[in-house]
Amino acid sequence: MAQLAGVSVRTLHHYDEIGLVRPSARTTAGYRTYSAGDVERLREVLAYRRLGFGLREIADLIDDPGTDAVAHLHRLRGLLLEQRDRAGAMVTAIDTELRARAMGIRTTSEDQLRAFGAQLYEVIGSAYPATRRTEPRIAARVWDALGDARTVLNVGAGTGSYEPPDRDVTAAEPPAVMRTQRPVGAAPCVAAGAENLPFENRSFDAAMAFSTVHHWHDPIAGLREMRRVARRVVVLTHDASDNGWRHRFWLTRDYLPEVAGLVAGRPSVDQPARSIGARMEPVLIPWDCADGFLEACWRRPEAYLDEHVRRAVSVWTRVGPEAEQRAVNGLRDDLSSGRWAERNGDLVDLDTAELGLRLLVA
Ligand SMILES: C[S@@+](CC[C@H](N)C(=O)[O-])C[C@H]1O[C@@H](n2cnc3c(N)ncnc32)[C@H](O)[C@@H]1O
Repeated sequence: MAQLAGVSVRTLHHYDEIGLVRPSARTTAGYRTYSAGDVERLREVLAYRRLGFGLREIADLIDDPGTDAVAHLHRLRGLLLEQRDRAGAMVTAIDTELRARAMGIRTTSEDQLRAFGAQLYEVIGSAYPATRRTEPRIAARVWDALGDARTVLNVGAGTGSYEPPDRDVTAAEPPAVMRTQRPVGAAPCVAAGAENLPFENRSFDAAMAFSTVHHWHDPIAGLREMRRVARRVVVLTHDASDNGWRHRFWLTRDYLPEVAGLVAGRPSVDQPARSIGARMEPVLIPWDCADGFLEACWRRPEAYLDEHVRRAVSVWTRVGPEAEQRAVNGLRDDLSSGRWAERNGDLVDLDTAELGLRLLVA
């Protein structure tokens, strides 16, 4: 068992002693025997351990009765993707510093340290406000769903594009680069991630989250936190598991197939919706959407040739520079040869598109 799992026999004995992984039986000679269920549990323990969790934390996680083996695999997958994104963000930050050094520019000590602990939004966050702003028709749907809530917590708030102006809003946002870009007079913002909200139970009438859940380490834990601190939960998110929209959307279908790999295996939006007992409604994207999220320019293909538009959308950083360049070159060629118009001519007659955006209300 120790050999197969790549750990020492001592480690297995220790896990047994502290009750973390107890073999179901022993042979008459006293050797521990591990059942299929024990092996599954050991695999979860080792995976969480490799992600840096402490043994006590792991015990709490895997003994949570609301989380089955499939939910653990999804959670582990999310944590690993997060780790991969963080490594990608560090590479991007280091490339930026190398380019600066090659031009004779010395980065400050603060910049160097920031790059060392880089998270995705710490690297791309400064490009965010260039094209990310309130889309009034989508905002109206979210604000409507908030009902008569007077106090609202906005989780993963970013620069606050979707904060309702007529309510008492508190924002929560992890990276400083996003918090410091909030406009003067914006709602107060605490440094906190969704998975660990520093508020008492039922502190708010409603908690909202806009286009952020797919970035969380643990979406289900984050949604449950929202449920804990607020009476009502309103979430605007993407149905990542729905292959339909990726095939319908020419950008992901014809130019950026890598997006499928980024979202592969993500739980369908039903799972987070179920975890908070939410109802789900599709949200259509207007052709002239004011907010520059990935799908926003579905009828304005030239927009994706603009570096500013791309830099404010994390997907372009996540697929890496080679895929980005190939996609942009392909799109540019197809726009000038008329091939894009030939393939997507039917879009010109549409005012809205259904591209997997969902509103969850609980
Ligand atoms: C696409 S932006 C959306 C920002 C804002 N809600 C909006 O619509 O403009 C995603 C945001 O999620 C934040 N985020 C990333 N991980 C998070 C986490 N674990 N908890 C809360 N927010 C997180 C990012 O820092 C970023 O500001």
